[in-house]
Amino acid sequence: MDFTKHTDCFTLSNGVKIPCIGYGTWKTEDGAQTRDSVSAAISCGYRHVDTAFAYGNEVSVGEGIRASGVAREDIFLTTKHWVTFRGYEATVATFEDSLKNLGTDYVDLYLIHWPAVEKITPDWKELNASTWAGFEKLYKDGKIRAIGVSNFEQKHLEALGEYAEIMPMVNQIEFHPGYSQLELAKYCQNKGILVQAWSPLGSGAVLSDEGLAAMAGKYGKSVAQLCIRYALQHDVLPLPKSLKPQRIAANAEVFDFEIDEEDIAVLETMPELGFSGFKAEEAPADALVNG
Ligand code: A2P
Repeated sequence: MDFTKHTDCFTLSNGVKIPCIGYGTWKTEDGAQTRDSVSAAISCGYRHVDTAFAYGNEVSVGEGIRASGVAREDIFLTTKHWVTFRGYEATVATFEDSLKNLGTDYVDLYLIHWPAVEKITPDWKELNASTWAGFEKLYKDGKIRAIGVSNFEQKHLEALGEYAEIMPMVNQIEFHPGYSQLELAKYCQNKGILVQAWSPLGSGAVLSDEGLAAMAGKYGKSVAQLCIRYALQHDVLPLPKSLKPQRIAANAEVFDFEIDEEDIAVLETMPELGFSGFKAEEAPADALVNG
Protein backbone atom coordinates (compact mmCIF):
# COMPACT_ATOMS: atom_id res chain seq x y z
CA MET A 1 0.00 0.00 0.00
CA ASP A 2 1.69 3.21 -1.02
CA PHE A 3 -1.04 5.77 -0.63
CA THR A 4 -0.07 9.12 0.85
CA LYS A 5 -3.49 10.78 1.02
CA HIS A 6 -7.16 9.79 1.08
CA THR A 7 -7.75 10.92 -2.50
CA ASP A 8 -5.14 8.45 -3.82
CA CYS A 9 -6.95 5.67 -5.61
CA PHE A 10 -7.37 1.94 -5.87
CA THR A 11 -7.95 0.81 -9.46
CA LEU A 12 -10.93 -1.47 -10.05
CA SER A 13 -10.73 -4.44 -12.43
CA ASN A 14 -12.29 -2.33 -15.21
CA GLY A 15 -9.71 0.44 -14.77
CA VAL A 16 -11.98 2.85 -12.87
CA LYS A 17 -10.16 4.72 -10.07
CA ILE A 18 -11.71 4.88 -6.60
CA PRO A 19 -10.42 7.12 -3.75
CA CYS A 20 -8.88 4.91 -1.05
CA ILE A 21 -11.04 6.17 1.85
CA GLY A 22 -14.76 6.77 1.45
CA TYR A 23 -17.19 8.63 3.67
CA GLY A 24 -19.87 6.27 5.02
CA THR A 25 -23.47 7.33 5.72
CA TRP A 26 -25.13 4.25 7.24
CA LYS A 27 -27.50 5.33 10.07
CA THR A 28 -27.04 9.00 9.23
CA GLU A 29 -30.47 10.61 9.36
CA ASP A 30 -32.02 11.96 6.20
CA GLY A 31 -32.20 15.76 6.17
CA ALA A 32 -29.79 18.29 7.61
CA GLN A 33 -27.67 15.67 9.39
CA THR A 34 -26.76 13.85 6.18
CA ARG A 35 -26.60 16.96 4.01
CA ASP A 36 -24.27 18.79 6.39
CA SER A 37 -22.02 15.84 7.21
CA VAL A 38 -21.58 14.88 3.54
CA SER A 39 -20.78 18.46 2.70
CA ALA A 40 -18.35 18.63 5.66
CA ALA A 41 -16.62 15.44 4.50
CA ILE A 42 -16.14 16.88 1.02
CA SER A 43 -14.79 20.10 2.57
CA CYS A 44 -12.30 17.89 4.46
CA GLY A 45 -11.10 16.61 1.11
CA TYR A 46 -13.07 13.35 0.84
CA ARG A 47 -13.99 12.63 -2.77
CA HIS A 48 -15.80 9.33 -2.19
CA VAL A 49 -19.24 9.00 -0.59
CA ASP A 50 -21.10 5.77 0.14
CA THR A 51 -24.85 5.50 0.63
CA ALA A 52 -27.66 3.02 -0.08
CA PHE A 53 -31.33 3.09 -1.07
CA ALA A 54 -32.10 1.40 2.26
CA TYR A 55 -30.36 4.09 4.31
CA GLY A 56 -33.22 6.40 3.31
CA ASN A 57 -30.80 9.30 2.93
CA GLU A 58 -29.99 9.36 -0.79
CA VAL A 59 -31.84 12.66 -1.28
CA SER A 60 -29.77 14.38 1.40
CA VAL A 61 -26.53 12.79 0.18
CA GLY A 62 -27.22 14.35 -3.23
CA GLU A 63 -27.96 17.69 -1.56
CA GLY A 64 -24.75 17.47 0.48
CA ILE A 65 -22.71 16.86 -2.66
CA ARG A 66 -24.30 19.84 -4.41
CA ALA A 67 -23.92 22.04 -1.29
CA SER A 68 -20.20 21.25 -1.20
CA GLY A 69 -19.67 23.14 -4.44
CA VAL A 70 -17.41 20.34 -5.74
CA ALA A 71 -18.34 19.14 -9.22
CA ARG A 72 -20.29 15.88 -9.39
CA GLU A 73 -17.67 14.29 -11.65
CA ASP A 74 -15.02 14.90 -8.99
CA ILE A 75 -16.93 12.80 -6.43
CA PHE A 76 -16.98 9.00 -6.48
CA LEU A 77 -20.56 8.13 -5.51
CA THR A 78 -21.76 4.68 -4.47
CA THR A 79 -25.28 3.51 -3.75
CA LYS A 80 -26.83 0.08 -3.25
CA HIS A 81 -29.77 -1.91 -4.51
CA TRP A 82 -32.18 -3.11 -1.81
CA VAL A 83 -33.42 -6.66 -1.21
CA THR A 84 -37.08 -5.93 -1.97
CA PHE A 85 -36.21 -5.19 -5.62
CA ARG A 86 -34.55 -8.44 -6.64
CA GLY A 87 -34.78 -9.64 -10.23
CA TYR A 88 -33.97 -8.00 -13.57
CA GLU A 89 -36.95 -5.69 -14.03
CA ALA A 90 -37.26 -4.44 -10.46
CA THR A 91 -33.51 -3.83 -10.41
CA VAL A 92 -33.56 -1.65 -13.50
CA ALA A 93 -36.59 0.26 -12.18
CA THR A 94 -35.30 0.86 -8.65
CA PHE A 95 -31.98 2.09 -9.99
CA GLU A 96 -33.87 4.98 -11.61
CA ASP A 97 -35.39 5.80 -8.20
CA SER A 98 -31.91 6.04 -6.69
CA LEU A 99 -30.79 8.34 -9.50
CA LYS A 100 -33.80 10.57 -8.90
CA ASN A 101 -33.19 10.59 -5.13
CA LEU A 102 -29.55 11.49 -5.60
CA GLY A 103 -30.31 14.09 -8.27
CA THR A 104 -27.71 12.69 -10.64
CA ASP A 105 -27.74 10.86 -13.97
CA TYR A 106 -25.14 8.23 -13.13
CA VAL A 107 -23.50 6.57 -10.15
CA ASP A 108 -19.87 5.54 -9.94
CA LEU A 109 -20.56 2.26 -8.17
CA TYR A 110 -23.77 0.29 -7.66
CA LEU A 111 -23.83 -2.69 -5.29
CA ILE A 112 -26.24 -5.54 -4.55
CA HIS A 113 -26.70 -4.72 -0.86
CA TRP A 114 -27.28 -8.32 0.31
CA PRO A 115 -27.30 -11.62 -1.58
CA ALA A 116 -30.49 -13.65 -1.81
CA VAL A 117 -29.96 -16.75 0.36
CA GLU A 118 -31.46 -20.22 0.31
CA LYS A 119 -33.19 -20.05 3.70
CA ILE A 120 -35.36 -17.15 2.47
CA THR A 121 -35.57 -17.87 -1.26
CA PRO A 122 -34.84 -21.44 -2.45
CA ASP A 123 -34.20 -20.02 -5.94
CA TRP A 124 -31.49 -17.74 -4.51
CA LYS A 125 -28.99 -18.50 -7.27
CA GLU A 126 -31.36 -17.57 -10.08
CA LEU A 127 -32.53 -14.52 -8.17
CA ASN A 128 -29.01 -13.20 -7.67
CA ALA A 129 -28.26 -13.97 -11.32
CA SER A 130 -31.25 -12.04 -12.63
CA THR A 131 -30.55 -9.09 -10.32
CA TRP A 132 -26.98 -9.16 -11.59
CA ALA A 133 -28.19 -9.24 -15.21
CA GLY A 134 -29.97 -5.94 -14.43
CA PHE A 135 -26.69 -4.56 -13.09
CA GLU A 136 -24.86 -5.66 -16.24
CA LYS A 137 -27.44 -3.95 -18.43
CA LEU A 138 -27.21 -0.68 -16.49
CA TYR A 139 -23.43 -0.88 -16.66
CA LYS A 140 -23.44 -1.49 -20.40
CA ASP A 141 -25.88 1.42 -20.82
CA GLY A 142 -23.26 3.67 -19.22
CA LYS A 143 -25.37 4.59 -16.19
CA ILE A 144 -22.93 3.06 -13.69
CA ARG A 145 -19.14 3.21 -13.92
CA ALA A 146 -18.58 0.05 -11.86
CA ILE A 147 -20.76 -2.73 -10.44
CA GLY A 148 -20.34 -4.89 -7.39
CA VAL A 149 -21.88 -6.63 -4.43
CA SER A 150 -22.00 -6.32 -0.67
CA ASN A 151 -22.11 -8.93 2.07
CA PHE A 152 -21.52 -11.73 -0.43
CA GLU A 153 -19.81 -14.78 1.01
CA GLN A 154 -17.65 -17.09 -1.08
CA LYS A 155 -20.55 -19.38 -2.01
CA HIS A 156 -22.59 -16.43 -3.34
CA LEU A 157 -19.67 -15.21 -5.44
CA GLU A 158 -19.00 -18.70 -6.77
CA ALA A 159 -22.65 -19.09 -7.74
CA LEU A 160 -22.68 -15.68 -9.42
CA GLY A 161 -19.57 -16.70 -11.35
CA GLU A 162 -21.64 -19.44 -13.03
CA TYR A 163 -23.95 -16.83 -14.58
CA ALA A 164 -22.12 -13.52 -14.68
CA GLU A 165 -20.85 -12.07 -17.90
CA ILE A 166 -19.00 -9.41 -15.91
CA MET A 167 -17.67 -10.32 -12.47
CA PRO A 168 -18.29 -7.88 -9.57
CA MET A 169 -15.57 -5.27 -9.19
CA VAL A 170 -16.20 -4.75 -5.47
CA ASN A 171 -17.44 -6.69 -2.44
CA GLN A 172 -18.30 -4.47 0.53
CA ILE A 173 -18.19 -6.43 3.79
CA GLU A 174 -17.95 -5.83 7.52
CA PHE A 175 -14.24 -5.55 8.29
CA HIS A 176 -12.53 -4.22 11.41
CA PRO A 177 -10.25 -5.45 14.19
CA GLY A 178 -12.35 -8.00 16.03
CA TYR A 179 -14.22 -9.07 12.88
CA SER A 180 -11.87 -9.12 9.92
CA GLN A 181 -13.25 -11.87 7.62
CA LEU A 182 -9.69 -12.29 6.32
CA GLU A 183 -10.37 -15.47 4.36
CA LEU A 184 -13.23 -13.88 2.46
CA ALA A 185 -11.18 -10.73 1.84
CA LYS A 186 -8.29 -12.81 0.44
CA TYR A 187 -10.64 -14.85 -1.73
CA CYS A 188 -12.05 -11.65 -3.26
CA GLN A 189 -8.66 -10.05 -3.76
CA ASN A 190 -7.33 -13.17 -5.51
CA LYS A 191 -10.26 -12.82 -7.93
CA GLY A 192 -9.47 -9.14 -8.58
CA ILE A 193 -12.45 -7.96 -6.52
CA LEU A 194 -11.73 -4.87 -4.39
CA VAL A 195 -12.84 -5.34 -0.79
CA GLN A 196 -14.46 -2.38 0.97
CA ALA A 197 -14.91 -2.23 4.75
CA TRP A 198 -18.25 -1.23 6.18
CA SER A 199 -18.13 -0.33 9.87
CA PRO A 200 -14.32 -0.10 9.83
CA LEU A 201 -14.59 1.16 13.43
CA GLY A 202 -16.98 -1.64 14.39
CA SER A 203 -19.72 1.04 14.45
CA GLY A 204 -17.77 2.63 17.28
CA ALA A 205 -17.87 -0.54 19.41
CA VAL A 206 -14.12 -1.24 19.23
CA LEU A 207 -13.03 2.30 20.04
CA SER A 208 -13.08 1.88 23.82
CA ASP A 209 -11.06 -1.35 23.85
CA GLU A 210 -8.07 -0.91 26.15
CA GLY A 211 -5.70 -3.11 24.16
CA LEU A 212 -6.46 -1.20 20.97
CA ALA A 213 -6.05 2.11 22.81
CA ALA A 214 -2.61 1.06 24.05
CA MET A 215 -1.57 -0.04 20.57
CA ALA A 216 -2.86 3.15 18.95
CA GLY A 217 -1.09 5.22 21.63
CA LYS A 218 2.23 3.62 20.67
CA TYR A 219 1.88 5.17 17.22
CA GLY A 220 0.56 8.49 18.58
CA LYS A 221 -2.77 7.77 16.89
CA SER A 222 -6.40 7.24 17.91
CA VAL A 223 -8.06 3.82 17.82
CA ALA A 224 -10.20 5.06 14.92
CA GLN A 225 -7.07 5.90 12.93
CA LEU A 226 -5.55 2.52 13.83
CA CYS A 227 -8.65 0.75 12.50
CA ILE A 228 -8.70 2.74 9.26
CA ARG A 229 -5.01 2.09 8.69
CA TYR A 230 -5.58 -1.61 9.49
CA ALA A 231 -8.01 -1.85 6.58
CA LEU A 232 -5.67 -0.01 4.19
CA GLN A 233 -2.72 -2.23 5.11
CA HIS A 234 -4.90 -5.17 3.99
CA ASP A 235 -5.66 -3.40 0.68
CA VAL A 236 -9.20 -3.00 1.96
CA LEU A 237 -10.96 0.32 1.33
CA PRO A 238 -12.43 1.73 4.57
CA LEU A 239 -15.71 3.67 4.72
CA PRO A 240 -15.63 5.35 8.14
CA LYS A 241 -18.49 7.57 9.23
CA SER A 242 -18.68 10.36 11.74
CA LEU A 243 -21.00 13.31 12.10
CA LYS A 244 -18.30 15.46 13.67
CA PRO A 245 -16.14 17.49 11.26
CA GLN A 246 -13.04 17.17 13.46
CA ARG A 247 -13.34 13.38 13.51
CA ILE A 248 -14.15 13.26 9.80
CA ALA A 249 -10.87 15.08 9.16
CA ALA A 250 -8.88 13.01 11.69
CA ASN A 251 -10.15 9.75 10.15
CA ALA A 252 -8.28 10.62 6.96
CA GLU A 253 -4.99 11.33 8.75
CA VAL A 254 -3.66 7.81 8.51
CA PHE A 255 -0.77 8.18 6.08
CA ASP A 256 2.00 9.17 8.50
CA PHE A 257 2.40 5.85 10.33
CA GLU A 258 2.56 2.14 9.63
CA ILE A 259 1.25 -0.65 11.87
CA ASP A 260 4.09 -3.13 12.26
CA GLU A 261 3.72 -6.81 11.40
CA GLU A 262 3.52 -7.95 15.01
CA ASP A 263 0.66 -5.60 15.75
CA ILE A 264 -1.12 -6.53 12.53
CA ALA A 265 -0.97 -10.16 13.70
CA VAL A 266 -2.44 -9.16 17.08
CA LEU A 267 -5.27 -7.28 15.37
CA GLU A 268 -5.94 -10.16 12.99
CA THR A 269 -6.20 -12.75 15.74
CA MET A 270 -7.87 -10.82 18.56
CA PRO A 271 -11.14 -12.19 19.95
CA GLU A 272 -14.36 -11.19 18.24
CA LEU A 273 -15.30 -7.62 19.07
CA GLY A 274 -17.87 -5.23 17.67
CA PHE A 275 -19.49 -7.76 15.26
CA SER A 276 -22.73 -6.23 13.97
CA GLY A 277 -24.64 -9.53 14.07
CA PHE A 278 -25.49 -9.22 10.36
CA LYS A 279 -24.48 -12.16 8.22
CA ALA A 280 -25.98 -13.15 4.89
CA GLU A 281 -26.56 -16.84 5.64
CA GLU A 282 -27.34 -16.62 9.35
CA ALA A 283 -29.14 -13.31 9.74
CA PRO A 284 -30.07 -12.31 6.20
CA ALA A 285 -31.40 -8.84 5.44
CA ASP A 286 -34.56 -10.31 3.88
CA ALA A 287 -35.43 -11.90 7.19
CA LEU A 288 -35.16 -8.52 8.88
CA VAL A 289 -37.31 -6.91 6.20
CA ASN A 290 -39.90 -9.68 6.19
CA GLY A 291 -39.99 -9.80 9.98
P1 A2P B 1 -19.70 10.21 15.72
O1 A2P B 1 -20.55 10.37 14.51
O2 A2P B 1 -20.29 10.79 16.95
O3 A2P B 1 -18.27 10.66 15.47
P2 A2P B 1 -18.24 3.05 11.72
O4 A2P B 1 -17.54 3.94 10.76
O5 A2P B 1 -17.50 1.78 12.02
O6 A2P B 1 -19.67 2.78 11.32
O7 A2P B 1 -18.32 3.81 13.14
C1 A2P B 1 -19.06 4.97 13.27
C2 A2P B 1 -19.16 5.34 14.73
O8 A2P B 1 -17.86 5.69 15.22
C3 A2P B 1 -20.03 6.53 14.96
O9 A2P B 1 -20.74 6.26 16.15
C4 A2P B 1 -19.06 7.69 15.15
O10 A2P B 1 -19.62 8.63 16.04
C5 A2P B 1 -17.86 7.02 15.75
N1 A2P B 1 -16.61 7.64 15.29
C6 A2P B 1 -16.22 7.89 14.04
N2 A2P B 1 -14.99 8.44 13.99
C7 A2P B 1 -14.57 8.55 15.26
C8 A2P B 1 -13.39 9.03 15.88
N3 A2P B 1 -12.39 9.51 15.15
N4 A2P B 1 -13.32 8.99 17.23
C9 A2P B 1 -14.34 8.49 17.97
N5 A2P B 1 -15.48 8.03 17.46
C10 A2P B 1 -15.62 8.03 16.12
